[in-house]
Amino acid sequence: MKIAVFGSGTMGSGIAQVFATYGYQVVMIDVDKKILENALNNIRKSLNKLYDKKAIKEDPETIISRISTGEDPGYSSGAELIIEAIVEKEEMKIDLFKKLDRIHGRNVIFATNTSSISITKLASATSRPEKVVGMHFFNPVPLMKLVEVVKGERTSDETVNYVYDLAKKLEKIPVKTQDYPGFVANRILMPLINEAILSLSEGVAGPEDIDLVAKYGLNHPMGPLELADLIGLDVCLDIMNVLYKDLGDPKYSPAPLLKRMVAAGKLGRKTGEGFYKYNK
Ligand code: CAA
Repeated sequence: MKIAVFGSGTMGSGIAQVFATYGYQVVMIDVDKKILENALNNIRKSLNKLYDKKAIKEDPETIISRISTGEDPGYSSGAELIIEAIVEKEEMKIDLFKKLDRIHGRNVIFATNTSSISITKLASATSRPEKVVGMHFFNPVPLMKLVEVVKGERTSDETVNYVYDLAKKLEKIPVKTQDYPGFVANRILMPLINEAILSLSEGVAGPEDIDLVAKYGLNHPMGPLELADLIGLDVCLDIMNVLYKDLGDPKYSPAPLLKRMVAAGKLGRKTGEGFYKYNK
């Protein structure tokens, strides 16, 4: 079975890696050769690490040989399932789904890894809303077990169940949710991160201490600020903006410090600086 993944950033490459690990043929599509090369390097590093730890049995190069790459959306033809993991911008996702709707037959399922954009809106851009579904993975995809399976207003039960069962085949733990801003995970997580940023900017404690509190007082595996750096501050801001706009409650307004850091290009690990500094 062939799967097409659009977008080869952290999430797209992680999704491609997991499907290839479980024996699926994957085509990973992005706009630029360099981005794709970088994604394959990251997949190789991750697989080597997992192989050294005996978390996977198959040789990493055999797994990678199941992933082909390309820049033309037409490379996705013949795929049974499309997973969109491009940037978290509604217009761009709609554009892509419109394009893919013209290329693919009626039976092909369009899944989106969006973390907060309405599935119903994306589905409405296509002529197959019953085949459009949220398949929301978590970062780092090879390690995190959860997949939110999100049902849009017109998504069929058959499509939801197909993606739910597929997630199980990847040894993930799928959870069905309704199409609501932030679904479940980000509805809970992003206000937590935002509140940590507000606490930092109000001088309640420094970044390390805020993270220590969450790790050792709340038993979180990572503090909210180091987690924001891992997710990407731009992604956190995009999600807060969706919660704020679509739920209409000022309690979701993004912290001014978060906006300022994103404007300055301090996006976390991927740019080498966020709440902490990283060697790129
Ligand atoms: N592939 C392979 N190995 C990886 C990896 C990857 N992609 N990412 C990290 N690892 C490795 C680390 O390199 C490390 O290896 P070593 O032990 O050899 O150094 C190992 O995994 C364990 O890492 P840590 O020592 O940091 O230990 P950890 O127990 O803290 O595990 C973690 C790491 C799983 C990331 C853990 O810290 C964690 O669960 N953090 C929270 C992650 C989280 O909440 N993610 C959800 C974000 S929200 C989201 O994704 C949705 C959204 O829409 C925004």
